[in-house]
Amino acid sequence: MSDFITEALNTKHFKKDFKCGNESLDNYIQKQAKQDVKRKLSACFVLPNKDDNVIGFYTLSNAGISRSLIPEEIRKKLPKNYNSLPVTLLGRLAVDESCKGKGIGKVLLMDALKRSYFVSKLIGSMAMVVDPLNENAVNFYKNFGFVTLPSSKKMFLSMKIIENLVSKK
Ligand SMILES: CC(C)(COP(=O)(O)OP(=O)(O)OC[C@H]1O[C@@H](n2cnc3c(N)ncnc32)[C@H](O)[C@@H]1OP(=O)(O)O)[C@@H](O)C(=O)NCCC(=O)NCCS
Repeated sequence: MSDFITEALNTKHFKKDFKCGNESLDNYIQKQAKQDVKRKLSACFVLPNKDDNVIGFYTLSNAGISRSLIPEEIRKKLPKNYNSLPVTLLGRLAVDESCKGKGIGKVLLMDALKRSYFVSKLIGSMAMVVDPLNENAVNFYKNFGFVTLPSSKKMFLSMKIIENLVSKK
């Protein structure tokens, strides 16, 4: 677990100046993330700079998705008696505006994929799922192989593909 670049959100991290261009994500890290972590609703991992200001963060939670949403080529290999399949939800991911376009979003996503793969060896999870906020986010996740699920705005990346991605390094 030691080679992750992010740290679990804690009291040493400064987040009140975090600004990513999306107000709901800014409010989330500034005001809600700590409470969600306390209530075990999500785990929040942050990338601090040398002064412990948060320059990026993401959240992970357990989730389930309906069998009918799983892409056909994966679904046909699954046992039929699972109506809901265990997945890891990447609830939020954002980079401070001062650091955009420098590869930090990619590094954060790879860190989140690595954590979700690690956890899937302890607690079953067949994919990572994200709820992209807008078209920009959809395009960002497409770069890494996420596919949009039919009849849903969610995007999906199987744990098999994640295993390959995180084992490359
Ligand atoms: C989306 C976001 C996380 C990207 O972070 P970033 O640090 O600027 O991205 P990176 O520099 O790491 O880019 C990684 C790759 O994604 C691409 N990319 C970045 N933003 C993109 C976008 N909006 N559309 C398409 N591709 C994008 C980059 O070109 C780069 O590709 P490359 O590896 O082939 O060079 C950041 O812009 C952000 O915080 N946006 C607001 C919040 C948000 O939309 N979060 C995601 C949904 S919850």
